[in-house]
Amino acid sequence: MARTTVAKFDTEGGQDSLNRDDYFPTMIFSAMLHDADSMNKDIMKAINDERDRDEKGIERSNIKALGGWHSHNNLHKDKTFDRLTNRIHALAAGIPKNLGYATNRHLELTTMWSISNPPLASNRTHIHPGALWSGVYYVQAPEGAGKLDMTDPRTVATMHQPIYTKHQKRKVETWNKVTIKPVAGKILFFPSWLYHGIAPNMAKGTGRDADRVVIAFNINQKVTPKMK
Ligand SMILES: [Fe+2]
Repeated sequence: MARTTVAKFDTEGGQDSLNRDDYFPTMIFSAMLHDADSMNKDIMKAINDERDRDEKGIERSNIKALGGWHSHNNLHKDKTFDRLTNRIHALAAGIPKNLGYATNRHLELTTMWSISNPPLASNRTHIHPGALWSGVYYVQAPEGAGKLDMTDPRTVATMHQPIYTKHQKRKVETWNKVTIKPVAGKILFFPSWLYHGIAPNMAKGTGRDADRVVIAFNINQKVTPKMK
């Protein structure tokens, strides 16, 4: 990360510069799929079929009372989801390149599942133990669909907050929370240790069209088999 000089001060016959280096960033990678419309049509059909087949999904929610249907977590092994699975792998490959991970390894999906939150359903704040990167792809996000809240992982940094200028947007690097509005066709990759939760779905309407539908996933680093 580049050093920036934030101010220069005339001090005792000379000049001193105040520099700033940002360390420990929390990286969130994202993309908007260029073919989201047709991708989402395919996926919604696959999810609805799965939902009709597997009504027990409601019991997999981390807190059942918060509502929402959760599929089993091996959707990446189901050929019906190949189009999205391949796309996730294609995009995820940009992360190790960007961050300089070992080139004899690659990022690979280890689990993938769907969550359909009907109106008022939400998801408690949580992390994804055992994974390196996690992510979400928004399949259906009606107006009012619950936003994704991400919490500053440096919990100690929230211990004593400065007073900021009133009525002025705080600089991104001073935020302690990030709120992301779901948009159909958007995919996010974030560190699995990053606490996140989903606000209640406030979409109006009834039936499955009012559901907030996502595909969520976990990714780990795997050794790439040598080509023969
Ligand atoms: Fe999650």
